[in-house]
Parts: sequence; C-alpha cells; structure tokens
Amino acid sequence: MQSLVIFGATGSIGSSTLDLVRKYPDKFRILGISARKNIAPLKEIAEEFKVPYLAVEREEDAKRLASSLSYKACVESGEEGLRRLAELEEAQTLVVGISGIKGLIPAYYGLLAGKRVALANKESLVVAGSLLKKAAKNGGGEIIPVDSEHSALFQLICGRKEEVEELYLTASGGPFYFCSEKELSRVTPEMAVKHPNWKMGAKISVDSATLMNKGFEVIEAMELFNFPVDKIKVLVHPQSIVHGLVKLRDGSVLAHLSVPDMRLAILYALTYPERYPLELSPLDLARIGKLEFFSPDTKKFPCLEIAYEVAHEGGLKPLILEAADEVVVEFFLQGKIRFLQIPYFLKKVLEKLEFKERVENLSISQILEYHREVRKFTEELICSQ
Ligand SMILES: NC(=O)c1ccc[n+]([C@@H]2O[C@H](COP(=O)([O-])OP(=O)(O)OC[C@H]3O[C@@H](n4cnc5c(N)ncnc54)[C@H](OP(=O)(O)O)[C@@H]3O)[C@@H](O)[C@H]2O)c1
Repeated sequence: MQSLVIFGATGSIGSSTLDLVRKYPDKFRILGISARKNIAPLKEIAEEFKVPYLAVEREEDAKRLASSLSYKACVESGEEGLRRLAELEEAQTLVVGISGIKGLIPAYYGLLAGKRVALANKESLVVAGSLLKKAAKNGGGEIIPVDSEHSALFQLICGRKEEVEELYLTASGGPFYFCSEKELSRVTPEMAVKHPNWKMGAKISVDSATLMNKGFEVIEAMELFNFPVDKIKVLVHPQSIVHGLVKLRDGSVLAHLSVPDMRLAILYALTYPERYPLELSPLDLARIGKLEFFSPDTKKFPCLEIAYEVAHEGGLKPLILEAADEVVVEFFLQGKIRFLQIPYFLKKVLEKLEFKERVENLSISQILEYHREVRKFTEELICSQ
C-alpha cells in the first residue's frame, strides 16, 4: 500500500489522482490532501477517503474544517502546513498538483525528506530547478514528472541518456493557433480557458493559448533532464497524440503516443518503474487518420521565444518571467488587459527587472520573497499604463 499526499486535491490534477485511487483502492492510501480556499470540495474528499492530514491556506478555514469533519483529523494551515504534510514520515509519494509558486514548498521539503515527488507543478521547476535538484541530491528524494510531455520524454530517455541528441516537446497550439492577428485581438477569457484537447485549470489553459505554457515546459525539460536548451525543440501537433520525441545519435527518432488523458502520466509517476493497467478509451490511430506537425509561429505567439531567451539568460530571469506571467494572466482573466497584451507586459517586466543572485544560493523564503516582489512590480506596471 503506497501512502500518498495530494497537494491541490481540489484541482484538475488532484481530481485525476483521486480517480486513480478509486480505481486502485488496494494499492494507494491517501494520507494527506491540501487545497487553498475550496473548503467544501476538500471536505467531501476528506470524508470519502477518511484522510487523516489536511492543509488549507487560512487558519480560520482550518479550524472550521477540523470541527466540521465527522471524524478526527489534523488540519494544518499556511506554508507551514504544506511543509508539514510534505514531511509526514509515513508519506511515500507526494503528488504536487498545486498551481503557482506555492507548489515549490511541498516539492522542496518532500525531496529533502527523501520522498518521491510526482511533479505536475511546473512553476517550481521553472523558478527553482537547481534548488529542487540540490534538495533531491541531499535528501534522497526523486522527481518523477507528471506533465504529459515530460512524462513522455522521461520514458523515452530512460536508459539511453548518452544516445539522446535532441528532445522534442509537442504543443497542441491551443485554441487559437490558426487564428489571424485580428481574431487574436478579440480573444476573451471565456474563449481562452476552453482548451481543445485537455481539461485543465484556468491559468494553464491561458498559458497554453499564448504558448507560454510550452515555453515553461522547455525550461522544465532543461532542468529535469539537464539538457542544453538549444537541443530542446517544440513542434505544434494539434491532435495531442504524440507527447514527446527524442532524436538519437544515429538519427532514429522515438516517440511516445497516447490518448490525451493526464491519468496516464500521473499513474506512471506513482508506479514507476512498474506499469499498472489503465482502461482509457483506446488509441485508434486508423480513426484519427492523420498526425500533423508544424514549426511554432513565434511571430504570432512571442511567449515561446521569450521563454527561450530567459532560459539562456538563466539566474533569476525564469523566476521573473513566471511571476510576471501569473499576474498578467490574472489581469487578462479579470478582463483588465487584452490577450495580445500578455507578451507585451512580460517583455516590459523582463526589461526593467534584474536580480544578480544565483537561485541555488537562495532559501525557499528568499525565492518566495523575490516572487512577491516581481508580482507587485508587475501589478504596478500594468496599473500605471
Ligand atoms: N491540469 C493539467 O492537465 C496539467 C497538466 C500538466 C501540468 N499541470 C500543472 O499542474 C499544476 C496544477 O494544475 P491544475 O490544472 O490542476 O490547476 P487547478 O485545476 O487550478 O488546481 C489547482 C489546485 O492547487 C490549489 N492551489 C492553488 N493555489 C494554491 C496556493 N497558493 N496554495 C495552496 N494550494 C493552492 C487549488 O486549491 P483551491 O481549489 O482551493 O483553489 C487546487 O487544488 C499547475 O502547475 C499546472 O501547470 C497541469
């Protein structure tokens, strides 16, 4: 029986993980769950699985939740609560499905405590990849990627790292890839959160539509696989059937194919190196008929290029990009800026902010402090325009 802690249990990754636990009740036990503010759904999950440890953002929610449960549970709050759940002695695997920078907390302390971290949260790797790798090395933990493209690459690279020359991440292109500039100028938040192939949270759906998500994934792959960024390429593939490809030194190319369903990557991260059966709808290539691939249009979608530049610069530039993007996307989702202004504001923040420190020399609280500083700067910049 594997003991799991699911961070972000009320989100899209969290729900998919719960589905897997329902499917394999004799293999997985839920030791802990966390959410930020969606207390009622968290309570429902706690009651269903009788989860002994919970964490939420606010102390008052934690107290109310603890007293409303039909059984006795330990309900933690704040950043300290996330840390305590990550360090639970009985916990073997942490699923980090929190969106945003707070995912860094359970990922970092979990790795330091020697846990397996099934990592969906890409922000933590983008912002502090070197710190997470150092924590894994010092604490004996391991990162198994859950992002579908990185799960694909992880499976393809396994055992042949020396032979791999190039990595290819595929991108669906999001809902607007074939739109004209004029059509892009009319994109609303409601249109942007409807991803054609994947059911995901609002932030990552907007990032997919701008290709920022793919840019973050390039940085994520660079960190996860210790691979030079120039050797990590992106292919737009609207069908989302091929998730990753590796080019080997003899010119062979290996690809990973599956129906687009996050449960596959999550289950693999939980069971690696084993594979459990999973009855998803079958991959019917004859019915799909064609698989298309295009080079990304970085003129229409400049966010991908911005991510490559930031990856080259290194240091705290990826942190600046990630923090600024969180704010810019929030403003877009609130209808305060337009879709085409997203890359404009990201470039402006990157031009104006510069930090000299090296990520690996910073503590988690210093990283969170820099992140808050960039967020504040970005908010002020947008409001001043
Ligand atoms: N969804 C996917 O298919 C997918 C694929 C690849 C990678 N990812 C990555 O996985 C992560 C989660 O994505 P998602 O689509 O599952 O997001 P989501 O549906 O928006 O869910 C986010 C979860 O994180 C919790 N959360 C958000 N902010 C928090 C904070 N400050 N402190 C503590 N908990 C917080 C939320 O709690 P509340 O419900 O209480 O707000 C919720 O449980 C992201 O980093 C995303 O990039 C997702």
